[in-house]
Amino acid sequence: MIRSRVIATGSYVPPKILTNFELEKMVDTSDEWITSRSGIRERRIVERDVATSDLGTRAAQRALEMAGLSPEDLDFIITGTNSPDMLFPCTSCFIQAKIGAKKAAGFDVSAGCTSFLHALSLADKFIKEDPARKVMVLGAEIMSKVTDWSDRATCVLFGDGAGAVILGGEEGERGVLSTHLHSDGSLWELLYLPGGGSTNPSSHETVDQRLHCIKMAGNQLFKVAVRALAEVSQEAMKKNGFTSDDIDLMIPHQANTRIIEAAAKLINFPMDKVFLNIEKYGNTSSATIPIALDELNRGGKLKAGNVILMCSFGTGVTWGGAVIRW
Ligand code: ACO
Repeated sequence: MIRSRVIATGSYVPPKILTNFELEKMVDTSDEWITSRSGIRERRIVERDVATSDLGTRAAQRALEMAGLSPEDLDFIITGTNSPDMLFPCTSCFIQAKIGAKKAAGFDVSAGCTSFLHALSLADKFIKEDPARKVMVLGAEIMSKVTDWSDRATCVLFGDGAGAVILGGEEGERGVLSTHLHSDGSLWELLYLPGGGSTNPSSHETVDQRLHCIKMAGNQLFKVAVRALAEVSQEAMKKNGFTSDDIDLMIPHQANTRIIEAAAKLINFPMDKVFLNIEKYGNTSSATIPIALDELNRGGKLKAGNVILMCSFGTGVTWGGAVIRW
């Protein structure tokens, strides 16, 4: 059977670190509150002149280098992002031009923090259609430019970064085993960015009202997120006839350590098999899972044959999961 296998990973986070202690000087918060409520200690923040495609480009180049491929070998570039360079064209087209992937078709996926898993699911289908294809899947975000830095309820949570994987077709048992995608649009008001779209086109008023920044009902989203992560993880394991014993590692979306712990508890999934790096990067939205994959891969923590369960939730509300055999 042909499967889509991850043949390389790459990631990039900007060098500038913003710690909780620095945030204490910006809004009425404390390191103690942020770490105990979210698990975050610091996050990376870009300089003013950096765009999302710049982060994606660095991650993509690192993945190409690991794969030993040239940019022209890529057939598709699919970027999950909620903070694109512009409303259009898509960020994947900017990345395509910057890396020189002349033959690749580029497009973006916008499905909240779940976007990377949506992109992975599409890539899997493109490869099943033609196993010779090479597909670059990215999650790339500059959340710091859509964050209201005067709103302590949201500004402590997010960070910037990008991760990339390259998928190729391969005969055998390794690769993507299943993907699972869901949404409930009736819950859109739990997390949204109202300004700059067709509902509220940019104007002096939208800027005055700070409609160009994230609005979030954190407490309500928390409860939805716990249920979504738990349910989709169970669905993904069940589809493959697995229990938590068969999973070597869970890589959840890094939004909040307490959300992850509560979801794991709900399905009796042992926390010692759950990967966390939220402490260093905060919530980089679509980028959390590919950054984690690259960190683990480069750290030699992933062995051939390991079964990895990925799960995520985000604005929409969307949620999703994927099981891969490394
Ligand atoms: N520092 C200090 N106090 C704060 C801060 C802060 N940064 N932010 C909020 N508070 C206060 C609140 O004002 C509130 O005070 P009150 O009780 O006097 O009213 C108190 O802390 C408790 O607030 P809650 O919102 O109930 O705190 P909670 O325990 O729910 O934690 C958090 C808040 C961390 C936001 C949590 O709800 C959460 O993580 N929700 C999910 C958010 C999320 O994951 N978003 C990303 C989704 S993915 C994507 O698509 C981008």
